[in-house]
Amino acid sequence: MIKLDDSLVNKSLDPKEVGKFISSHKETISKVLAGQYGMPDALGWFTVKENVQEALLDKISSLAEEIRRDADVFVLVGVGGSNRAAQSVIEGLGYNRKDKPRIIYMGNTLSASEILYTLQCLEGKSVYANIIAKNFATLEPGLAFRLLRSWMGEKYGPAYAKHITLTGSFGKGQLAEIAEANGFSFFEFPSAVGGRFSAFTAVGLLPMAIMGADIRSFIRGAESCEKSLKSDPTGGIAARYAVIRHLLQKKGFIVEALAYFEPCLEMLGRWWLQLHGETEGKNSEAILPTLSCFSEDLHAIGQYYQEGGRLFFETFLNFFKPSGQLIPASSFDDGFSALDGKSLDCLNPAVSKAVAEAHYEAGIPVLQFNVDKIDEESLGEFMYMQMVSAYLSAAFLAVEPFDQNGVEFYKRNLRRELGFVD
Ligand code: PA5
Repeated sequence: MIKLDDSLVNKSLDPKEVGKFISSHKETISKVLAGQYGMPDALGWFTVKENVQEALLDKISSLAEEIRRDADVFVLVGVGGSNRAAQSVIEGLGYNRKDKPRIIYMGNTLSASEILYTLQCLEGKSVYANIIAKNFATLEPGLAFRLLRSWMGEKYGPAYAKHITLTGSFGKGQLAEIAEANGFSFFEFPSAVGGRFSAFTAVGLLPMAIMGADIRSFIRGAESCEKSLKSDPTGGIAARYAVIRHLLQKKGFIVEALAYFEPCLEMLGRWWLQLHGETEGKNSEAILPTLSCFSEDLHAIGQYYQEGGRLFFETFLNFFKPSGQLIPASSFDDGFSALDGKSLDCLNPAVSKAVAEAHYEAGIPVLQFNVDKIDEESLGEFMYMQMVSAYLSAAFLAVEPFDQNGVEFYKRNLRRELGFVD
């Protein structure tokens, strides 16, 4: 079970202020916990069960099994909310470190050299792809799909259709129509769920299952979190986190640095970044979410954190992966004899504690999420809790959580630049 340790924010925030804010915002919190804030047709994610009926899970599992039997490489095409949840679980739990299938990501860049390199990596391999787009008008996945189709058409001839699964919407020009016309398998991207809230739908679950993740445990983690948050009138850990961030922002801590200690959690961090950035970043009071990987970044941005401007707070993900390994002794004095006989697993918790203390002393508020194990269940719990927290944060800022109109500005310019007639 995930716990939030907020003891190291007390220099900047009196715990009484948190309690006071929760009681004075009871109405907003209960509105959010009842799913009554924001666009009602975008709340399909709020009740986990709604998108994970047994029939869907069976369909996902049987296609995943089929693909796993034959694929050397699985290509996940999508961008933003259409791929980050799956990436978080697949990379976070090491499913891309097995022999096969390996996963390759496409549809998230317009870099010609990167796209070319990716296609070269597919040579000589048995390849399957899942193309995901809620609105099949986004250029990056659209281009990747076209290039993959052409590559697969040449490799497999007319049988290439069985190598492609589409996850998308119904309607003119959308992926459901394209699947029907071309014989591709199809999964629905639920219309009432936005990309960054789609972890517990076919969008996140199919790629996870193809890579071997236990999607039922992932869902179980989310469901138990949902139950505990919704049965607590104060909104539990999700509300406490949202309230503390909100109050810190009001005190001038306008940047949040999420710090993770296991490099494999980078994608989870990037998922979190999008979730909060796109859900809340709609007025000048929104927190700017940023990421740091410790300890690498302690030797880079760490100097700024310790002695630079006090405009940020930190949120540590104390999620550690144990190895069971001991550190070998050295045959000569290398200056590290204090490590002799110690477990490799004591190092990350030690660095987390050391940094938290140093940063706290320097006046940085430090929040810490603690969990005893990283697996599908704990990631499901964490991701659902963060979704509710972002939803609540948007309500505290009085912004609409479920749109992202700001993203359209560059898209419009890009389409004009490329000669699209809209
Ligand atoms: O959270 C969101 O809704 C967005 O970030 C989308 O996921 C992202 O823009 C990709 O959209 P689409 O799946 O329509 O290509």
